[in-house]
Amino acid sequence: MRIVAANWKMNLRCKSAVGLASRLRADGRSCWLFPAFPLLVPVAQVIAGSGLVLGAQDVSPEQDGAFTGEVSGEQLKDAGCELVLIGHSERRHGHGERHPLLVRKLKRAAECGLKTVYCVGETLPERQAGRAETVVGEQLGSLAKLSDSEKAQVAAVAYEPVWAIGTGENATPAQAHEMHALLRQSLERMGMKVPLLYGGSVKPENAGELLAQPHVEGLLVGGASLEYESLAAIDNAAREA
Ligand code: 13P
Repeated sequence: MRIVAANWKMNLRCKSAVGLASRLRADGRSCWLFPAFPLLVPVAQVIAGSGLVLGAQDVSPEQDGAFTGEVSGEQLKDAGCELVLIGHSERRHGHGERHPLLVRKLKRAAECGLKTVYCVGETLPERQAGRAETVVGEQLGSLAKLSDSEKAQVAAVAYEPVWAIGTGENATPAQAHEMHALLRQSLERMGMKVPLLYGGSVKPENAGELLAQPHVEGLLVGGASLEYESLAAIDNAAREA
């Protein structure tokens, strides 16, 4: 049984998110759901007491206070979140989030009792320049700044090559395997044993072959998580893996 995490990004509305969550609940599924902030509470109400787990897509590095537009870890917990995504490429590249800020977010989330899903991944130019492993290794280095108790709050590390996100071009199973094996080694050196997720154009058609790789313990799904049929098909593949 592998992890299936659904990153809904800035998609869906209250009705569609609640409808999707309700169907997943009725099936007895146990995916991790990452709705946009305004959808957290309505989705939390629908999935309460089920195997589905709620997560947010970002967290402020600050505590409650005068930080317009930010959402604190305390507020996320209050909304019913157990998880938060940190270091997604759309935050790294779209919002210039870098190592020091990501470390603060990881620490803040841990302090609030939120579990983190830490995302890493190289861009296409970085891969073409033969730097994929170096870049991902450096990104992973943020976790080395955490204390043991903060490390224990890391629920998963997600490898999401930027060139595969939303492009329809997923990493091949061999590419995913290669990077996941490297991540596994680096995490072991840090004394961390966390599940590794693959993300980037995951679809029902490729979920099984990606999950067949030894170090792919789950999937982080964007576009294909927005429709019940495709998410359920990916989750079925994960149940069979
Ligand atoms: P897609 O599945 O749409 O490529 O998105 C992947 C992703 O960014 C999940 O966090």
